[in-house]
Amino acid sequence: MFPLLLQFLLFPFIASAASPASPSRSSYGLSYSIDCGGISNFTSNLNRQWLSDRYFTGGAIGTVAEPQHFTQPQERTLRFFPPNSFGKKSCYSIPVPPGRYYLRTFTVYDNYDSKMRNPSFDVSIEGTLVFSWRSPWPEAVARSGAYADLFFPAADGSADLCFYSIATDPPVVASIEIFQIDSLAYDAATAGSDFVLVNYGRLSCGSALFGPGFTNHSDLFGRVWQSDAEFRDPKVKVKALSSGGRKVLGGAHAPNYFPPQLYLTAVTVEQPGVGLEYLLQVDTRLDYMVWFHFAEIDSGINAAGKRVFDILINGKNVARIDIFKAVGGFAAFDWHYVAKNLTTSPLSLKLVPVVGKPVICGLENYAMVPLDLASLPGQASAMRALKESLRIPDRMGWNGDPCAPTTWDAWEGVTCHRTVEGLVITQLCRNKVLLGEHFALRDKLCGRQEVSSNFSYAKDE
Ligand SMILES: *[C@@H]1O[C@H](CO)[C@@H](O)[C@H](O)[C@H]1NC(C)=O
Ligand SMILES: *[C@@H]1O[C@H](CO)[C@@H](O)[C@H](O)[C@H]1NC(C)=O
Ligand SMILES: *[C@@H]1O[C@H](CO)[C@@H](O)[C@H](O)[C@H]1NC(C)=O
Ligand SMILES: *[C@@H]1O[C@H](CO)[C@@H](O)[C@H](O)[C@H]1NC(C)=O
Repeated sequence: MFPLLLQFLLFPFIASAASPASPSRSSYGLSYSIDCGGISNFTSNLNRQWLSDRYFTGGAIGTVAEPQHFTQPQERTLRFFPPNSFGKKSCYSIPVPPGRYYLRTFTVYDNYDSKMRNPSFDVSIEGTLVFSWRSPWPEAVARSGAYADLFFPAADGSADLCFYSIATDPPVVASIEIFQIDSLAYDAATAGSDFVLVNYGRLSCGSALFGPGFTNHSDLFGRVWQSDAEFRDPKVKVKALSSGGRKVLGGAHAPNYFPPQLYLTAVTVEQPGVGLEYLLQVDTRLDYMVWFHFAEIDSGINAAGKRVFDILINGKNVARIDIFKAVGGFAAFDWHYVAKNLTTSPLSLKLVPVVGKPVICGLENYAMVPLDLASLPGQASAMRALKESLRIPDRMGWNGDPCAPTTWDAWEGVTCHRTVEGLVITQLCRNKVLLGEHFALRDKLCGRQEVSSNFSYAKDE
């Protein structure tokens, strides 16, 4: 139940397209765009405010080997964390009010350190392991970088994005973007929100990539939508549909605010009687939340029963869809399903015709990664206070939560143990040299009884 080794996510938006300059509205309350390694603020050609590098616990600045290969300034600079100087665990702690957020990172190597060796490291958000980068990276990703994104809940006033060095490799990050999203988005009301939703595919059917930071299309939550072309079964001939300038109503409202652009294009099959299949790479043993986005944008389909199809997930028939019957024409219809404990990859999503040809506007697939255990409330802040007052050196890696992710043995000198209430810090409580006269902190960290018994235990040694 502890080690969730998510393989590297293959959704690289390799070098972004040149984009027209016009303002994009892209915030739902709070948002940050941080240019890691960047030394000045700037406004992008899409009118987005980028901040110079900030909120990091340590590390150093680097620049990709071939800056001319990257269209966006924030893609050219990076921050890296050599473990010899900054410890195994380094973080960005970004101040955010409690809520739910979209996070997008850009990671690139491009031989910034002239060592010709891309690093292995893990990444966590709020103490939950989400990405595992392992050397060697795919060639295109090492050279041009890759974006990865997810939704996460933040409970404690800061979003902790942490990096854990494998062996002695320095983790790297080139940009960090955070957008606040609705606390009820993606079915939090029934599915709950005590997990991270990691993007394993967010596709717009029959269109090119769009979204804030890449095109001038807005998306209130900052989401980027990739073209579906590479994820379809190549043996099936398809036809792209467009709403022909007509508006599609009903998608852009609380809590999900799907972008209007999503419903203006769709894909259908050329031949009647043929199904439409998408294959998405997944990591097994996790649950996945799959969203389907539909709109009837063919004005010829003007009554219920004219276009009916079934949704098959890994061969299992899970729903019958009649878009017109559900919402009428030129209106958004969204449907989602949780596929539990997947045992095979890729995930097959198939639309099988019942009447007429199936049609689809968009797809999303998220791994539902359960939040890892963290230290007891108050312990992490007490530990940070202790770190300040003891002037713990950077190389001890005392950053982020002392106990989470549970698989990272990251805070040198600190050991965490599982109890019924959560994780407690034990090793430190026994260490009279480190704790010394910090009685107030000692009480907060260890509890009076624990301290006295473990301290007397320590004295007897
Ligand atoms: C960048 O912008 C932020 C927020 O507006 C401001 O606090 C900061 O001083 C600016 N930094 C630089 C280097 O101009
Ligand atoms: C985005 O740019 C294109 C091309 O310049 C323009 O046609 C379109 O209206 C713009 N869209 C928005 C939302 O500004
Ligand atoms: C998931 O499936 C695997 C293989 O079928 C099984 O061993 C495991 O117990 C399942 N886990 C859960 C949580 O159902
Ligand atoms: C405290 O020390 C005692 C031994 O004296 C040990 O049994 C107990 O598990 C320790 N408590 C914790 C939280 O480690």
